[in-house]
Amino acid sequence: MNQKIIVLDFGSQYTQVIARRIRECSVYSEILPFDTKASDIASREDVCGIILSGGPASVLAKNSPMPDPEIFRLGLPVLGICYGLQLMGRILGGEVVKGKEREYGYGLLSFKKPGILLKGLKSPVQVWNSHGDRIEKLPKGFAAVGWTQNSKFALVEDAKRKFFGMQFHPEVAHTPKGMKIIKNFLYGVCGCKGDWKMSDYVKSAIDKIRAQVGDKKVILGLSGGVDSSVAAALIHKAIGDKLTCVFVDNGLLRKDERVKVENLFKKNFKMRMKTVRAEKEFLSRLAGVTDPEKKRKIIGKTFVEIFDKAVKGVKGVEFLAQGTLYPDVIESVPIAGNPASLIKSHHNVGGLPKEMKLKLLEPLRELFKDEVRALGKELGLAHEVLWRHPFPGPGLGVRVVGEVKKEYCDILREADAILMEEMRASGIYEKVWQAFAVFLPVKTVGVMGDERTYDNVIALRIVESADAMTADWANVPHEILAKVSNRIINEVKGVNRVVLDISSKPPATIEWE
Ligand code: XMP
Repeated sequence: MNQKIIVLDFGSQYTQVIARRIRECSVYSEILPFDTKASDIASREDVCGIILSGGPASVLAKNSPMPDPEIFRLGLPVLGICYGLQLMGRILGGEVVKGKEREYGYGLLSFKKPGILLKGLKSPVQVWNSHGDRIEKLPKGFAAVGWTQNSKFALVEDAKRKFFGMQFHPEVAHTPKGMKIIKNFLYGVCGCKGDWKMSDYVKSAIDKIRAQVGDKKVILGLSGGVDSSVAAALIHKAIGDKLTCVFVDNGLLRKDERVKVENLFKKNFKMRMKTVRAEKEFLSRLAGVTDPEKKRKIIGKTFVEIFDKAVKGVKGVEFLAQGTLYPDVIESVPIAGNPASLIKSHHNVGGLPKEMKLKLLEPLRELFKDEVRALGKELGLAHEVLWRHPFPGPGLGVRVVGEVKKEYCDILREADAILMEEMRASGIYEKVWQAFAVFLPVKTVGVMGDERTYDNVIALRIVESADAMTADWANVPHEILAKVSNRIINEVKGVNRVVLDISSKPPATIEWE
């Protein structure tokens, strides 16, 4: 049995981030509802500490979420973060007041002696705050360790009882030394040994899936992307043939994509997999449509219809599995100009038809992308699958500018495959966020041999980005661009000109549509 930290969830959007940081320290954690009984915690094996998360409520308000006060008598170390600190203040006999101003954003935490939590750090350290209330009087036994401009009790401790509290958020990236502080709590206070690893996660995730699914059947829409691939591999390991994967070939995929997905999942993993070849259906509905949003809607709607039909063809399905990750579910609250939390309005969150009446199975819901990749590796998925660039749901539908025709998609597929080959061969593929070709329905004049040509244009889009919210065009060596351009013009019939997109986002977007 792994040692574990209990995180009591008071509704912070960062609760899962706390759990993630704990995993990063090789320690297992379990998130439980804020009102979990102390006796319940005591009855669990190998609990070595409790963390009280932040939360949107005020401890001064009526009916604010309160923990069982007995948790402070279990003899376990407790760390309260933000709202968690104020709860400790309130319950253990201190005083919490409404702050005159909200403290929101960067702050500097100063301290004289580091105490156990700031061990190894030098004053001041940058921290991230987001709170309205503050502690005015500390409970008995507590001492202030660190302060910020707006709060004299930014980090407090009762070293004897092993109770700690902090007004700031050590779990977010805006507190650069936050990991060190969390590590000090886990290793220095709770006595964690670091006995958790990703393979343990696989085991517990499998148990959870089996418990949730029982003997029922599960369906999963496979896109070939990282998230759905890892979800498929995990669920398959848990329930084998009770999982059916559905792959819809919408005719807007990259070259050989369907075959690659079938080889991997059907042949290699021996999964039950249903491929629906629906190119004609998609393309006929797209005929004559040039508006990007209309195209997106048609593609989305057609997908749902076809997927729904495929699901009805599998008897006794009760669950729909999705590769939803934590950043897909995190609420869209902007964190100080970090727009990462605002992504995902139209991106990658699969549109689940409400009338499908299936229960959701989302085994990756607590994980972040890099953790999903680590999990995928553990499950035996190839590096190439796990490090694929993001690919938009509407696929080539938004990369053929204007009207989508099969002929254009075929040309684009060939050009894109050459770009991918050269990106991979030069090692650039993994250094950039996304690289792809775009088909422009513009004819330009060229000469080939002695002949005049009048053909289409391919644009190359290669961008660097951390989160797709902003992006810069990547500085790719000229020799590689030259090779890609030469190959496309020579090898792809119907193209006589290749251009490079050198626009940043904003004001441009990554995709052309
Ligand atoms: P933009 O073009 O908005 O793209 O800068 C940002 C990221 O989102 C992807 N993208 C989409 N993904 N459905 C998706 O699943 C879409 O309709 C869609 N549009 C853009 C894009 O590839 C980039 O990674």
